[in-house]
Amino acid sequence: MSQSAIAYHEQPPPATDYGRLFETTGWNTSYQASLQELHQAISDSWYVLSAYENDRLVGFGRIISDGVLYALICDLIVNPACQGQGIGSALLAKLIEHCHSKGIRVIWLFAAKGKRSFYKKFGFHERPIDAPGMQMAPSQD
Ligand SMILES: CC(C)(COP(=O)(O)OP(=O)(O)OC[C@H]1O[C@@H](n2cnc3c(N)ncnc32)[C@H](O)[C@@H]1OP(=O)(O)O)[C@@H](O)C(=O)NCCC(=O)NCCS
Repeated sequence: MSQSAIAYHEQPPPATDYGRLFETTGWNTSYQASLQELHQAISDSWYVLSAYENDRLVGFGRIISDGVLYALICDLIVNPACQGQGIGSALLAKLIEHCHSKGIRVIWLFAAKGKRSFYKKFGFHERPIDAPGMQMAPSQD
């Protein structure tokens, strides 16, 4: 599949399509979110981007933000069958570009296990060890 065959839309996908994509990550084992809850989460985001190959949802990413200072990129997901073809990079580049176009001062994200080098290529760097990001959540990698 060539990268040119992918279309990117600034709308949330249908709940069932997104649920299927989200389940490929294994993250819902800890969240236990219903299809409706997952769809509400993406629909209430500041910005969403869905990647389609024809009518098939193959990737997704979203941003939570106050629109001025801070933005959090989350749920960057590419269907495992379509990974390694540049879709994740294209999604991430577009999410970052949207933040820049709106003048967002700080972009955050949490790198999943093994994804650190993927994000470093885009200019993200780890927070200082004495000023870490912190969280309160079910245990998750
Ligand atoms: C992370 C993810 C979105 C990347 O999407 P993708 O479409 O496979 O990525 P790309 O094809 O654009 O890869 C871009 C580059 O990153 C590299 N890369 C991909 N996954 C990587 C990883 N886990 N670690 C390091 N580099 C990685 C690719 O080799 C490629 O390198 P290149 O540009 O030098 O050729 C995808 O692997 C995914 O959905 N994973 C499961 C969900 C997940 O963990 N999301 C991240 C949450 S923080």
